[in-house]
Amino acid sequence: MNRLAVVGSTGSIGRSALAVAEAHPDRLRIVALAAGENAERLAGQVAQFAPAAVAMASDEGLQSLERELSARGVTHRPSASAGPDALVAIATRGDVDTVLFASSGTASLEAVLAAIAAGKRIALANKEILVMAGALVMDAAQRRGVSVLPVDSEHNAIHQCLEGRNLADVRRLILTASGGPFRELSAARLQDVGPEDALRHPTWNMGPKITVDSATLMNKGLEVIEARWLFGIAADRISVVVHPQSIVHSLVEFVDGSMVAQLGVTDMRLPIQYALSYPERWEAAVPPLDLTRAGSLTFEPADTTRFPCLDLAFRALAGAEGLPIVLNAANEVAVAGFLDGTVAFTAIPAVIASTMDWYEASGPEPIATIADVRRVDREARGVAAGQGRAIR
Ligand SMILES: NC(=O)c1ccc[n+]([C@@H]2O[C@H](COP(=O)([O-])OP(=O)(O)OC[C@H]3O[C@@H](n4cnc5c(N)ncnc54)[C@H](OP(=O)(O)O)[C@@H]3O)[C@@H](O)[C@H]2O)c1
Repeated sequence: MNRLAVVGSTGSIGRSALAVAEAHPDRLRIVALAAGENAERLAGQVAQFAPAAVAMASDEGLQSLERELSARGVTHRPSASAGPDALVAIATRGDVDTVLFASSGTASLEAVLAAIAAGKRIALANKEILVMAGALVMDAAQRRGVSVLPVDSEHNAIHQCLEGRNLADVRRLILTASGGPFRELSAARLQDVGPEDALRHPTWNMGPKITVDSATLMNKGLEVIEARWLFGIAADRISVVVHPQSIVHSLVEFVDGSMVAQLGVTDMRLPIQYALSYPERWEAAVPPLDLTRAGSLTFEPADTTRFPCLDLAFRALAGAEGLPIVLNAANEVAVAGFLDGTVAFTAIPAVIASTMDWYEASGPEPIATIADVRRVDREARGVAAGQGRAIR
């Protein structure tokens, strides 16, 4: 029995993870759940899984949860706490074997490190964590002998392709990108797209922030940084190819030119289950891919003129240690501005680039601790907000 804590249980990945747990009651047990503010959905999950503990972002959230549980006549009451310390407490419980981090943004950074220090196995969907603090997180995991298993479908695919191989035999990792909803839109028309257009992803159904990131190609940029840390491979050995059908989830090219790819349907329950079952494989409650109905599989280069965010991510990896933190912070600020209608779609990369320019000109210092990460993140958010107002 693998005893699970799910951080971000009310989100897109969190709900898929609970569906996997529901399909494997003899193998997975939900011990703890953490959410941001969605008390209604969390109450439904408490009623279904009866976890021992829950955490929410605020005390107001917990009060709403109590009201929701009473209104539904749910008698089970998990121990409940709120705020960043509550995430750490959930992630380090003695009765938890694996912590699945499915929260969005950066709130779980301290909890990830605490879970590693406590020797928990980590299943990681929350890519912003590795973008901000990849070196610190992977170094801590290596020293503690803890596995960090990728949930992101591309990294999960690469993990499967690398299984039993020697990293020295790898020429490059190839991440596939769907190209997002604007793959065929001209530069001129990109100026007018709004949030409702960007939130219509052609192949994946995901939370709003990552869906906008897919439309700008920043999602692929964040994944390049994630891959650099997860697999300990230099950025010049990571490349991206656009594959609109999202059936080949990623590939590894070996030194002899052979490529190994992982294929599957576009359903996040598959990579989540692999991360939870590894090194075993279990039957999945997902219909398998039918190659005879998949149609043509096509591949094309990414257009970084119309979608400059991908190049910005490579620039971040090549620059000062703190530059990926700045990229991530400025992106979150710009995407939030786009979603609330104050920043144009085409201004998102401009806000990020000018925030990175500011950081490089400021005389960056080494990033040695989480406090350094949080300081750079905070400063970059302030600068990006100003850039957002100036650029729009
Ligand atoms: N969706 C995908 O297919 C996919 C694929 C690969 C990787 N990812 C990555 O996985 C992460 C989650 O993505 P998503 O699409 O599932 O996002 P989402 O639907 O927006 O869900 C985010 C989750 O994080 C929770 N959360 C936010 N702030 C929190 C806090 N302070 N404390 C605890 N929980 C908090 C939210 O809670 P409330 O809703 O209750 O506020 C929600 O449960 C992201 O990093 C994303 O890049 C997603």
